[in-house]
Amino acid sequence: MKKILTGIKPTGSGMHIGNYFGAVLPLIELSKKYDTTLFIPDYHSLTSVHDGDILTQNKARMLREYISLLPKNVRIFEQSKIDHINNMAWVLSSVTPYSLMLRAHSFKDAQNKNSDINMAIFNYPILMAADIISYDFDIVPVGKDQKQHLEFARDIAGNFNRTYGVDFFKLPEPHIDETVMTIPGTDGRKMSKSYNNHIWIFDDEKTLKKKIMSIVTGSEWLDDPKDPENCNVFALIKLFASEEKQTEIAQKYREWWYGYGHAKLELLDLILQYFSEARAKYQALEKDDNELQHRLEKGNHEANEMATQKYTQLMHIVGLWK
Ligand code: ADP
Ligand code: TRP
Repeated sequence: MKKILTGIKPTGSGMHIGNYFGAVLPLIELSKKYDTTLFIPDYHSLTSVHDGDILTQNKARMLREYISLLPKNVRIFEQSKIDHINNMAWVLSSVTPYSLMLRAHSFKDAQNKNSDINMAIFNYPILMAADIISYDFDIVPVGKDQKQHLEFARDIAGNFNRTYGVDFFKLPEPHIDETVMTIPGTDGRKMSKSYNNHIWIFDDEKTLKKKIMSIVTGSEWLDDPKDPENCNVFALIKLFASEEKQTEIAQKYREWWYGYGHAKLELLDLILQYFSEARAKYQALEKDDNELQHRLEKGNHEANEMATQKYTQLMHIVGLWK
């Protein structure tokens, strides 16, 4: 069975509906066919988060979210629990041309936004290459913005193999799903934290309701017929309702008594129903994170075993260990 790996940084402050449909659901689908691993690249967060308490909180929240949503067969582990990952990155940096690193879009973007940048931002693609090639994963699903990092990982793995005349690192295949839809936010633009038009999945019901009630709609009166296909609320309803339910709601839009407020309440119900199991699990994990710790321990142990094996072989190839 092919092995797939993806990583999501714990820098943000929660998961919204756009993240779920754009990143989590495709991963759940892949986990039906492949041995699937999600890891938390927490060392990478240190490039931008310099407050220990905030990082701890973000990481804990993110782990609760993912463990509430992902099926049990998805392995989850923490990068910082992998003993040799930074040593691995050091060895790889010794076969990585400086000229390659200068081409990194992520570094150029960071440089354009802020002149005071740290070395970890520059070295980031090498650690990311180590993340990918230290365990012999076959496929790495990422968003389009990560495509170049994947190419770097392939280049770095190839450089190592050529330099030492070995066929040691597997060249990872990127998996970029061009069909993933863009989920609209409460104002109709792409849902994003940076536009503040997102709907968090795990907010309490009152906050969730407030957010849904703030969705921007047309200004027709209650007794005016409305066009569902031209409505931000209906665009979101379509993600959660069955075909039958969608037809039923679309019909109501065209009748005189149905207002946007009604549609918003239906959306709230649909969201609560869709995520009911995950939301209940999330709340339970907030009170008792035993299950979370257990799953992490298992994932960390398995990943560490794989990486240690690879690292031991690597140290022999480069001649540091006999
Ligand atoms: P944000 O824009 O809120 O900061 P991120 O950049 O952290 O979101 O996105 C994390 C993941 O979620 C990425 O894989 C991205 O492709 C996906 N994603 C984010 N917003 C959307 C959206 N509106 N529609 C579809 N996928 C999205
Ligand atoms: N750079 C990725 C991002 O910003 C996160 C990441 C780090 C990653 N290491 C990885 C993703 C390895 C996939 C595989 O989203």
